[in-house]
Amino acid sequence: MNVYKVISDNVKSKLMEIDDVADVLPSDVAIETPKIRDFGDFSTNVAMMLARPLKKSPRDIAEMILPKISEIPFVEKVTVAGPGFINITLKNDFLMSPRKYNIVSEKSKSLTIDMDYGSYNIGKALHIGHLRTTVVGDTFNRIARALGHKTKSYNHMGDWGRPMGLIIAWILEYGMPKNADDINVMYPASSARAKEDKDWLERAQRVTVDLQNGNAKYLKIYNEFAPMSLKQISDILVRLNILPFDENKGERLVAEYVPAVQEILDQKNLIVHDDGADIIPVKLETDTAPMPPVLWRSSTGAQTYAAADLAAIYYRTTTDNPDDIVYFTDSRQNLHFTQVFRAAKMAGMDSANLQHIGFGTITGADGKPFKTRDGDVPSLHQMVDMVADSVRARAEESGKKLSDETVEMIALAALKFNDLMHDVKSDYVFDVDSVTQFEGRTGPYILYTAVRLNAVTNKAADMGVVASADRVELEPAERNLLLRLMDFERVLENAFARRATDLLANYTYDLAQDINTFYHHCPILRDDVVSDVRATRLYIVNMARETLLRAIDLMGLRVPESM
Ligand code: ARG
Repeated sequence: MNVYKVISDNVKSKLMEIDDVADVLPSDVAIETPKIRDFGDFSTNVAMMLARPLKKSPRDIAEMILPKISEIPFVEKVTVAGPGFINITLKNDFLMSPRKYNIVSEKSKSLTIDMDYGSYNIGKALHIGHLRTTVVGDTFNRIARALGHKTKSYNHMGDWGRPMGLIIAWILEYGMPKNADDINVMYPASSARAKEDKDWLERAQRVTVDLQNGNAKYLKIYNEFAPMSLKQISDILVRLNILPFDENKGERLVAEYVPAVQEILDQKNLIVHDDGADIIPVKLETDTAPMPPVLWRSSTGAQTYAAADLAAIYYRTTTDNPDDIVYFTDSRQNLHFTQVFRAAKMAGMDSANLQHIGFGTITGADGKPFKTRDGDVPSLHQMVDMVADSVRARAEESGKKLSDETVEMIALAALKFNDLMHDVKSDYVFDVDSVTQFEGRTGPYILYTAVRLNAVTNKAADMGVVASADRVELEPAERNLLLRLMDFERVLENAFARRATDLLANYTYDLAQDINTFYHHCPILRDDVVSDVRATRLYIVNMARETLLRAIDLMGLRVPESM
């Protein structure tokens, strides 16, 4: 239930019962949260909106419509403030058990969403640059599913372009990788050599084209190498608690659809031959910034990055018929996606709404891309290890003994929550020691709150305390917490609609704070708490726990038994 929507709908239908108002009622009656909730839980400026059409002062209108609004069954009190703001206070029993009121809120339409995130390159260890696409993509997927949308997650592997040619050329010369470490050094080594050695570059380019054309020897190497690399990728994804991808279908597997796209492009005359290459001009009259053409086929004859993306769009739109295809990559690919989306539109392959979410960079304190102390780009394993070391050091300092498993869970929460709480589009500074603090806007704080709630419910069960929603006199800390819980659904809807997972992360932090404030002011199992108060509070704890655990799960975090 989106409580804002429910209130808005109810206010609207009540106002429709007033003849003069019905004719001029705006379709959107906005419900807001007042900064200070002393005068009401929610407020609306509908009286101001009606002032002009009704030619009356907002205050008079407010006075006139108050009685109607107070007829809403779950409304306790309605008052006017200032020039005509209307404050609405909800009934306590509604906050405690909204279900009692049998509110039917219409479900938003279930969409089919294809998501492209992760999309790793084979032969390259996952590193800090993959953190956001992985973590944000995964959480976005979980949120969409929780809201009842149908999603398909695509790992559009980079496994068919020049990097693959460089790797195979290397293997031809130096043999198959012997151990795990070998796998990820081949590409950087070969690519460094290609920068200096033109023959080497040309050789790799030839290998790429021949591979794409089905050279049996190269395919054999590919088929041996790819699974080793994939295994490493899947290991770190498991460690990060990322849902498995629905399709590991990347550049190689979409190659099959390149001819179909070629046909469409030819039919529409969209391809221009340019110096041995095939390009698709996508510049528009209205462009002020440079807009290079899409490289459809390179002059060496190789399938390009853009061609793979167009083929993928073809496959996805014809197979899944999605409403949206959403891509999560860093913002350096903004131009690439603008170009590809334009080409798709020109080709008439834009039945889905194509959307690219471009991320900012994770930086060090100096504002430059984050590096380890040794000056390296950290792998994702290294990142989790670094954070885990910090968690361990912190625990030792405070004399706590934590199992390795617990340390890992806390480290994961620290790393992922910190990533999720930042607006995806902006850069953020990564500081290992601040993300592992147990206080403040951190993953460990969220987990700590959950561990505490788990402990209370366990203890209550041992003591045989039964939760009850019968008593409805509530303290401010109790009301606040209940109002926060009520807001969960709206936060999820907004996070989904705006592709903004930071809304969920920051909501979870606010919720954790409200839980801890409640906990501080409202003892539950203490001896002096009378039994009906205790039962009410346990009831609130149960609800808070359920929502907090759901939020934690949507962020792909795991809660330890104790910490
Ligand atoms: N493999 C690419 C890279 O690592 C990212 C792919 C993003 N997805 C896409 N459909 N192009 O840079």
